[in-house]
Amino acid sequence: MADIVLGVSGSVAAYRACDLARELMRAGFGVRVCLTDAAERFVSRGLFEALTGRPCLQDTFEEPDAGRMAHIDWARAASVLVVAPATASTLARLAHGVGDDMLTTVALAYRGPVVVAPAMNPAMYINDATQANLATLRSRGVVVVEPVEGDVACGENGQGKLAAIGQIVQAVLEAAQRSQKLAGKTVLVTAGPTQEPVDDVRMLTNRSSGKMGYAVAHAARDMGARVVLVSGPTSLPSPLEVETVRVQTAEDMLAACLAHPADLVIAAAAVADYRPAERVRGKMRRVDAGLELQLVPNPDIVAALSAAWPAATVVAFAAEPDDGLAVAREKMVRKGVAAIAVNDVSRADIGFDSDENELTLLTADGQERRSGRLSKAGCARWLLEQVT
Ligand SMILES: Cc1cc2nc3c(=O)[nH]c(=O)nc-3n(C[C@H](O)[C@H](O)[C@H](O)COP(=O)(O)O)c2cc1C
Repeated sequence: MADIVLGVSGSVAAYRACDLARELMRAGFGVRVCLTDAAERFVSRGLFEALTGRPCLQDTFEEPDAGRMAHIDWARAASVLVVAPATASTLARLAHGVGDDMLTTVALAYRGPVVVAPAMNPAMYINDATQANLATLRSRGVVVVEPVEGDVACGENGQGKLAAIGQIVQAVLEAAQRSQKLAGKTVLVTAGPTQEPVDDVRMLTNRSSGKMGYAVAHAARDMGARVVLVSGPTSLPSPLEVETVRVQTAEDMLAACLAHPADLVIAAAAVADYRPAERVRGKMRRVDAGLELQLVPNPDIVAALSAAWPAATVVAFAAEPDDGLAVAREKMVRKGVAAIAVNDVSRADIGFDSDENELTLLTADGQERRSGRLSKAGCARWLLEQVT
Protein backbone atom coordinates (compact mmCIF):
# COMPACT_ATOMS: atom_id res chain seq x y z
CA MET A 1 0.00 0.00 0.00
CA ALA A 2 0.89 3.67 -0.04
CA ASP A 3 3.63 5.49 1.82
CA ILE A 4 2.63 7.96 4.48
CA VAL A 5 4.53 10.47 6.59
CA LEU A 6 3.86 10.37 10.32
CA GLY A 7 4.78 13.72 11.88
CA VAL A 8 5.42 13.58 15.61
CA SER A 9 5.62 16.79 17.63
CA GLY A 10 6.62 17.57 21.22
CA SER A 11 3.74 16.40 23.36
CA VAL A 12 3.82 14.01 26.32
CA ALA A 13 1.66 11.82 24.09
CA ALA A 14 4.62 11.35 21.68
CA TYR A 15 5.16 7.86 23.14
CA ARG A 16 1.76 6.85 21.72
CA ALA A 17 3.04 7.65 18.22
CA CYS A 18 5.14 4.46 18.52
CA ASP A 19 1.97 2.36 18.72
CA LEU A 20 0.42 4.47 16.00
CA ALA A 21 3.37 3.83 13.67
CA ARG A 22 3.00 0.08 14.23
CA GLU A 23 -0.78 0.13 13.73
CA LEU A 24 -0.42 2.12 10.52
CA MET A 25 2.08 -0.47 9.29
CA ARG A 26 -0.36 -3.24 10.23
CA ALA A 27 -2.99 -1.40 8.17
CA GLY A 28 -0.62 -1.80 5.23
CA PHE A 29 1.09 1.59 5.02
CA GLY A 30 4.78 2.22 4.56
CA VAL A 31 5.47 4.65 7.42
CA ARG A 32 8.21 7.28 7.52
CA VAL A 33 8.48 9.33 10.69
CA CYS A 34 9.43 12.99 10.73
CA LEU A 35 9.84 14.32 14.25
CA THR A 36 10.35 17.77 15.71
CA ASP A 37 13.24 18.57 18.04
CA ALA A 38 10.76 18.77 20.93
CA ALA A 39 9.36 15.32 20.05
CA GLU A 40 12.92 13.93 20.18
CA ARG A 41 13.09 15.08 23.81
CA PHE A 42 10.26 12.65 24.56
CA VAL A 43 10.91 9.67 22.26
CA SER A 44 14.16 8.82 20.55
CA ARG A 45 14.51 8.91 16.83
CA GLY A 46 16.25 5.55 17.00
CA LEU A 47 13.12 3.95 18.46
CA PHE A 48 11.01 5.09 15.49
CA GLU A 49 13.70 3.90 13.09
CA ALA A 50 13.75 0.49 14.74
CA LEU A 51 9.93 0.25 14.76
CA THR A 52 9.41 1.32 11.15
CA GLY A 53 12.62 -0.02 9.61
CA ARG A 54 13.00 3.29 7.79
CA PRO A 55 15.18 6.34 8.48
CA CYS A 56 13.57 9.31 10.22
CA LEU A 57 13.89 12.99 9.42
CA GLN A 58 14.27 15.73 12.01
CA ASP A 59 16.60 18.53 10.91
CA THR A 60 15.59 20.68 7.93
CA PHE A 61 19.00 20.33 6.29
CA GLU A 62 19.30 16.56 6.55
CA GLU A 63 19.95 14.88 3.23
CA PRO A 64 19.69 11.09 3.58
CA ASP A 65 20.20 10.80 -0.21
CA ALA A 66 23.09 13.10 -1.05
CA GLY A 67 22.10 15.84 -3.47
CA ARG A 68 18.36 15.26 -3.05
CA MET A 69 16.10 17.57 -1.06
CA ALA A 70 14.52 15.30 1.50
CA HIS A 71 11.54 17.56 2.26
CA ILE A 72 10.52 17.48 -1.41
CA ASP A 73 11.15 13.75 -1.84
CA TRP A 74 9.15 12.85 1.26
CA ALA A 75 6.30 15.22 0.35
CA ARG A 76 6.08 13.78 -3.17
CA ALA A 77 6.11 10.17 -2.04
CA ALA A 78 3.46 10.47 0.68
CA SER A 79 -0.21 9.79 0.04
CA VAL A 80 -1.23 11.03 3.50
CA LEU A 81 0.47 13.30 6.03
CA VAL A 82 -0.65 12.55 9.58
CA VAL A 83 0.60 14.63 12.49
CA ALA A 84 0.02 12.81 15.77
CA PRO A 85 0.39 14.04 18.36
CA ALA A 86 0.07 17.58 17.04
CA THR A 87 1.14 20.22 19.55
CA ALA A 88 -0.45 23.68 19.78
CA SER A 89 2.75 25.11 18.35
CA THR A 90 2.91 22.72 15.37
CA LEU A 91 -0.78 23.35 14.61
CA ALA A 92 -0.09 27.10 14.62
CA ARG A 93 2.81 26.72 12.22
CA LEU A 94 0.80 24.43 9.93
CA ALA A 95 -2.07 26.92 9.92
CA HIS A 96 0.20 29.84 9.08
CA GLY A 97 2.48 28.19 6.55
CA VAL A 98 5.61 28.54 8.68
CA GLY A 99 8.36 26.12 7.67
CA ASP A 100 10.90 26.45 10.46
CA ASP A 101 11.70 22.78 10.93
CA MET A 102 11.69 19.64 8.81
CA LEU A 103 8.12 18.58 9.66
CA THR A 104 6.53 21.92 8.80
CA THR A 105 8.71 22.21 5.68
CA VAL A 106 7.58 18.76 4.47
CA ALA A 107 3.99 19.88 5.19
CA LEU A 108 4.45 23.00 3.04
CA ALA A 109 5.81 20.96 0.13
CA TYR A 110 3.06 18.34 0.43
CA ARG A 111 -0.29 18.65 -1.32
CA GLY A 112 -2.35 15.58 -0.46
CA PRO A 113 -4.74 14.92 2.43
CA VAL A 114 -3.61 15.91 5.93
CA VAL A 115 -4.82 14.44 9.22
CA VAL A 116 -3.91 16.05 12.55
CA ALA A 117 -4.53 14.62 16.01
CA PRO A 118 -3.99 17.34 18.62
CA ALA A 119 -2.85 16.50 22.15
CA MET A 120 -2.29 19.07 24.85
CA ASN A 121 -3.34 20.50 28.18
CA PRO A 122 -7.11 21.38 28.11
CA ALA A 123 -6.43 25.11 28.61
CA MET A 124 -4.04 25.06 25.65
CA TYR A 125 -6.67 23.27 23.62
CA ILE A 126 -9.49 25.72 24.26
CA ASN A 127 -7.17 28.70 23.89
CA ASP A 128 -8.65 31.01 21.23
CA ALA A 129 -5.43 30.89 19.23
CA THR A 130 -5.45 27.08 19.07
CA GLN A 131 -9.14 27.00 18.15
CA ALA A 132 -8.63 29.64 15.43
CA ASN A 133 -5.71 27.65 14.01
CA LEU A 134 -7.81 24.47 13.98
CA ALA A 135 -10.63 26.35 12.22
CA THR A 136 -8.14 27.55 9.59
CA LEU A 137 -6.84 24.03 9.05
CA ARG A 138 -10.37 22.58 8.83
CA SER A 139 -11.37 25.23 6.28
CA ARG A 140 -8.54 23.95 4.09
CA GLY A 141 -9.83 20.41 4.29
CA VAL A 142 -7.46 19.13 6.99
CA VAL A 143 -9.08 16.32 9.00
CA VAL A 144 -8.89 16.98 12.73
CA VAL A 145 -9.16 13.90 14.94
CA GLU A 146 -10.36 15.62 18.08
CA PRO A 147 -8.67 14.93 21.40
CA VAL A 148 -10.80 13.24 24.03
CA GLU A 149 -11.70 14.22 27.58
CA GLY A 150 -9.90 12.66 30.51
CA ASP A 151 -7.01 13.07 32.93
CA VAL A 152 -4.02 14.61 31.19
CA ALA A 153 -0.38 14.30 32.25
CA CYS A 154 -0.30 17.68 33.99
CA GLY A 155 -2.92 16.48 36.48
CA GLU A 156 -5.86 18.38 34.99
CA ASN A 157 -9.03 16.90 33.60
CA GLY A 158 -10.61 18.02 30.34
CA GLN A 159 -10.43 17.74 26.58
CA GLY A 160 -6.83 17.33 25.42
CA LYS A 161 -5.86 13.65 25.43
CA LEU A 162 -4.73 12.20 22.11
CA ALA A 163 -7.61 10.33 20.44
CA ALA A 164 -7.63 6.52 20.39
CA ILE A 165 -5.02 5.05 18.04
CA GLY A 166 -7.75 3.11 16.18
CA GLN A 167 -9.60 6.32 15.46
CA ILE A 168 -6.49 7.99 14.01
CA VAL A 169 -5.73 4.92 11.86
CA GLN A 170 -9.33 5.00 10.56
CA ALA A 171 -9.02 8.69 9.63
CA VAL A 172 -5.76 7.93 7.77
CA LEU A 173 -7.35 5.01 5.90
CA GLU A 174 -10.26 7.23 4.81
CA ALA A 175 -7.87 10.01 3.76
CA ALA A 176 -5.77 7.54 1.73
CA GLN A 177 -8.87 6.30 -0.10
CA ARG A 178 -9.95 9.85 -0.76
CA SER A 179 -6.53 10.80 -2.10
CA GLN A 180 -6.84 8.28 -4.93
CA LYS A 181 -10.58 8.60 -5.49
CA LEU A 182 -10.20 10.11 -8.95
CA ALA A 183 -7.25 8.00 -10.15
CA GLY A 184 -7.76 6.96 -13.78
CA LYS A 185 -10.50 9.57 -14.32
CA THR A 186 -10.44 12.66 -16.51
CA VAL A 187 -11.99 15.74 -14.94
CA LEU A 188 -12.86 18.77 -17.04
CA VAL A 189 -13.19 22.04 -15.12
CA THR A 190 -14.36 25.35 -16.53
CA ALA A 191 -13.42 28.53 -14.68
CA GLY A 192 -13.47 32.30 -14.80
CA PRO A 193 -15.58 34.72 -16.78
CA THR A 194 -15.99 34.88 -20.53
CA GLN A 195 -15.40 38.09 -22.47
CA GLU A 196 -17.71 38.91 -25.37
CA PRO A 197 -16.16 41.64 -27.54
CA VAL A 198 -18.31 44.63 -28.50
CA ASP A 199 -15.49 46.11 -30.57
CA ASP A 200 -11.70 45.73 -30.47
CA VAL A 201 -11.37 47.47 -27.10
CA ARG A 202 -14.66 46.87 -25.26
CA MET A 203 -16.39 43.76 -24.10
CA LEU A 204 -19.21 42.31 -22.02
CA THR A 205 -17.93 40.32 -19.06
CA ASN A 206 -18.62 39.69 -15.37
CA ARG A 207 -16.94 39.74 -11.97
CA SER A 208 -15.86 36.08 -11.80
CA SER A 209 -12.21 35.75 -10.65
CA GLY A 210 -11.88 32.07 -11.56
CA LYS A 211 -10.74 31.19 -8.01
CA MET A 212 -13.46 28.59 -7.40
CA GLY A 213 -12.81 26.70 -10.65
CA TYR A 214 -9.04 26.79 -10.16
CA ALA A 215 -9.51 25.42 -6.63
CA VAL A 216 -11.56 22.55 -8.08
CA ALA A 217 -8.81 21.85 -10.64
CA HIS A 218 -6.19 21.71 -7.86
CA ALA A 219 -8.36 19.46 -5.70
CA ALA A 220 -9.20 17.06 -8.56
CA ARG A 221 -5.52 16.80 -9.46
CA ASP A 222 -4.66 16.08 -5.83
CA MET A 223 -7.28 13.30 -5.83
CA GLY A 224 -5.40 11.58 -8.67
CA ALA A 225 -7.38 12.76 -11.71
CA ARG A 226 -6.06 13.86 -15.07
CA VAL A 227 -7.41 17.42 -15.12
CA VAL A 228 -8.19 19.72 -18.04
CA LEU A 229 -8.97 23.30 -17.04
CA VAL A 230 -10.71 25.44 -19.64
CA SER A 231 -10.35 28.95 -18.32
CA GLY A 232 -11.75 32.30 -19.34
CA PRO A 233 -9.45 35.32 -18.86
CA THR A 234 -8.16 35.44 -15.25
CA SER A 235 -5.03 36.67 -13.51
CA LEU A 236 -4.45 33.26 -11.91
CA PRO A 237 -1.40 31.14 -12.80
CA SER A 238 -2.03 27.82 -14.57
CA PRO A 239 -2.00 25.05 -11.94
CA LEU A 240 0.95 22.66 -12.11
CA GLU A 241 0.25 19.31 -13.75
CA VAL A 242 -3.11 20.49 -15.09
CA GLU A 243 -3.66 20.93 -18.84
CA THR A 244 -4.90 24.52 -18.99
CA VAL A 245 -6.62 25.85 -22.10
CA ARG A 246 -7.15 29.63 -22.09
CA VAL A 247 -10.15 30.98 -23.99
CA GLN A 248 -11.99 34.28 -24.28
CA THR A 249 -15.58 33.85 -25.43
CA ALA A 250 -18.36 31.40 -24.58
CA GLU A 251 -18.14 29.94 -28.07
CA ASP A 252 -14.37 29.36 -27.67
CA MET A 253 -15.04 27.78 -24.28
CA LEU A 254 -17.59 25.35 -25.70
CA ALA A 255 -15.25 24.34 -28.52
CA ALA A 256 -12.35 23.78 -26.10
CA CYS A 257 -14.55 21.70 -23.78
CA LEU A 258 -15.91 19.51 -26.59
CA ALA A 259 -12.31 18.72 -27.59
CA HIS A 260 -11.66 17.22 -24.11
CA PRO A 261 -14.16 14.46 -23.25
CA ALA A 262 -14.22 13.72 -19.53
CA ASP A 263 -15.72 11.40 -16.92
CA LEU A 264 -16.60 14.30 -14.64
CA VAL A 265 -17.30 17.91 -15.60
CA ILE A 266 -17.34 20.70 -13.03
CA ALA A 267 -18.63 23.79 -14.81
CA ALA A 268 -17.63 26.63 -12.50
CA ALA A 269 -17.14 29.28 -15.23
CA ALA A 270 -19.44 32.29 -15.25
CA VAL A 271 -20.36 32.16 -18.92
CA ALA A 272 -22.02 35.19 -20.51
CA ASP A 273 -25.58 34.34 -21.51
CA TYR A 274 -25.47 36.79 -24.42
CA ARG A 275 -22.95 38.27 -26.83
CA PRO A 276 -23.19 41.27 -29.14
CA ALA A 277 -24.83 40.24 -32.41
CA GLU A 278 -22.01 41.91 -34.28
CA ARG A 279 -18.44 42.69 -33.30
CA VAL A 280 -17.40 46.10 -34.58
CA ARG A 281 -13.88 46.16 -36.02
CA GLY A 282 -11.76 48.95 -34.59
CA LYS A 283 -13.35 51.24 -31.99
CA MET A 284 -16.98 52.31 -31.91
CA ARG A 285 -17.14 56.09 -31.96
CA ARG A 286 -19.18 58.20 -29.61
CA VAL A 287 -22.26 59.85 -31.08
CA ASP A 288 -24.56 62.30 -29.34
CA ALA A 289 -27.47 59.92 -29.24
CA GLY A 290 -28.50 56.75 -27.46
CA LEU A 291 -27.05 53.49 -28.63
CA GLU A 292 -28.73 50.14 -28.90
CA LEU A 293 -26.62 47.08 -28.66
CA GLN A 294 -28.22 43.97 -30.05
CA LEU A 295 -27.41 40.78 -28.16
CA VAL A 296 -27.83 37.16 -29.22
CA PRO A 297 -27.82 34.16 -26.89
CA ASN A 298 -24.60 32.25 -26.32
CA PRO A 299 -24.56 28.44 -26.42
CA ASP A 300 -25.49 26.77 -23.13
CA ILE A 301 -22.17 25.01 -22.45
CA VAL A 302 -23.38 22.84 -19.60
CA ALA A 303 -26.45 21.62 -21.49
CA ALA A 304 -24.32 20.95 -24.58
CA LEU A 305 -21.77 18.88 -22.62
CA SER A 306 -24.38 16.80 -20.82
CA ALA A 307 -26.06 16.09 -24.17
CA ALA A 308 -22.73 15.27 -25.86
CA TRP A 309 -21.44 12.94 -23.11
CA PRO A 310 -24.40 11.10 -21.54
CA ALA A 311 -22.08 8.82 -19.52
CA ALA A 312 -20.28 11.75 -17.86
CA THR A 313 -21.28 13.25 -14.52
CA VAL A 314 -21.87 16.93 -15.18
CA VAL A 315 -22.04 19.37 -12.27
CA ALA A 316 -23.14 22.94 -12.95
CA PHE A 317 -22.68 26.04 -10.83
CA ALA A 318 -25.36 28.65 -10.25
CA ALA A 319 -24.50 32.10 -8.98
CA GLU A 320 -27.79 33.28 -7.56
CA PRO A 321 -28.67 36.29 -5.48
CA ASP A 322 -30.42 35.40 -2.18
CA ASP A 323 -29.86 31.66 -2.33
CA GLY A 324 -32.11 31.21 -5.41
CA LEU A 325 -32.58 27.50 -4.84
CA ALA A 326 -35.83 27.21 -6.79
CA VAL A 327 -34.25 28.85 -9.84
CA ALA A 328 -31.20 26.57 -9.52
CA ARG A 329 -33.38 23.44 -9.26
CA GLU A 330 -35.16 24.43 -12.45
CA LYS A 331 -31.77 24.99 -14.17
CA MET A 332 -30.54 21.56 -13.06
CA VAL A 333 -33.53 19.86 -14.69
CA ARG A 334 -33.44 22.00 -17.85
CA LYS A 335 -29.71 21.39 -18.40
CA GLY A 336 -29.94 17.67 -17.62
CA VAL A 337 -27.07 17.70 -15.10
CA ALA A 338 -26.39 15.40 -12.12
CA ALA A 339 -26.07 18.25 -9.62
CA ILE A 340 -25.86 21.99 -9.30
CA ALA A 341 -23.76 23.92 -6.78
CA VAL A 342 -25.42 27.15 -5.77
CA ASN A 343 -23.59 30.12 -4.31
CA ASP A 344 -25.19 33.29 -3.09
CA VAL A 345 -23.60 36.16 -5.01
CA SER A 346 -25.53 38.85 -3.16
CA ARG A 347 -23.18 38.44 -0.17
CA ALA A 348 -19.96 40.44 -0.18
CA ASP A 349 -18.12 38.00 2.12
CA ILE A 350 -18.33 34.95 -0.15
CA GLY A 351 -18.60 34.19 -3.87
CA PHE A 352 -17.18 36.47 -6.58
CA ASP A 353 -13.50 37.29 -6.05
CA SER A 354 -13.58 36.23 -2.41
CA ASP A 355 -11.26 33.53 -1.04
CA GLU A 356 -14.18 31.90 0.70
CA ASN A 357 -17.41 30.35 -0.41
CA GLU A 358 -20.44 28.50 0.87
CA LEU A 359 -22.13 26.03 -1.45
CA THR A 360 -25.53 24.42 -1.47
CA LEU A 361 -25.47 21.31 -3.62
CA LEU A 362 -28.73 20.20 -5.18
CA THR A 363 -28.67 16.75 -6.76
CA ALA A 364 -30.92 15.26 -9.43
CA ASP A 365 -32.15 12.67 -6.88
CA GLY A 366 -33.62 15.47 -4.78
CA GLN A 367 -30.98 15.93 -2.08
CA GLU A 368 -29.84 19.27 -0.72
CA ARG A 369 -26.48 19.50 1.10
CA ARG A 370 -24.63 22.51 2.47
CA SER A 371 -20.85 22.87 2.71
CA GLY A 372 -20.87 25.57 5.39
CA ARG A 373 -18.48 28.47 4.98
CA LEU A 374 -15.05 27.25 3.84
CA SER A 375 -12.04 28.45 1.90
CA LYS A 376 -12.52 27.89 -1.84
CA ALA A 377 -9.97 25.05 -1.59
CA GLY A 378 -12.08 23.49 1.19
CA CYS A 379 -15.27 23.99 -0.86
CA ALA A 380 -13.62 22.36 -3.87
CA ARG A 381 -12.66 19.25 -1.90
CA TRP A 382 -16.09 19.13 -0.28
CA LEU A 383 -17.77 19.33 -3.68
CA LEU A 384 -15.63 16.58 -5.23
CA GLU A 385 -16.32 14.36 -2.22
CA GLN A 386 -20.06 14.84 -2.72
CA VAL A 387 -20.15 14.07 -6.43
CA THR A 388 -17.70 11.14 -6.66
C1 LIG B 1 6.93 18.08 29.71
C2 LIG B 1 6.30 18.84 28.57
C3 LIG B 1 5.15 18.36 28.02
C4 LIG B 1 4.52 19.05 26.96
N1 LIG B 1 3.37 18.55 26.41
C5 LIG B 1 2.76 19.24 25.44
C6 LIG B 1 1.56 18.75 24.85
O1 LIG B 1 1.05 17.69 25.22
N2 LIG B 1 1.00 19.47 23.86
C7 LIG B 1 1.52 20.64 23.43
O2 LIG B 1 0.92 21.27 22.56
N3 LIG B 1 2.66 21.11 23.95
C8 LIG B 1 3.29 20.45 24.92
N4 LIG B 1 4.46 20.93 25.46
C9 LIG B 1 5.04 22.15 24.89
C10 LIG B 1 5.75 21.86 23.60
O3 LIG B 1 6.69 20.81 23.74
C11 LIG B 1 6.46 23.14 23.11
O4 LIG B 1 5.46 24.13 22.77
C12 LIG B 1 7.34 22.89 21.92
O5 LIG B 1 7.93 24.09 21.52
C13 LIG B 1 6.57 22.29 20.77
O6 LIG B 1 7.43 22.10 19.67
P1 LIG B 1 6.96 21.32 18.40
O7 LIG B 1 5.58 21.72 18.11
O8 LIG B 1 7.93 21.73 17.34
O9 LIG B 1 7.11 19.86 18.68
C14 LIG B 1 5.09 20.25 26.49
C15 LIG B 1 6.28 20.70 27.06
C16 LIG B 1 6.87 20.02 28.09
C17 LIG B 1 8.16 20.55 28.69
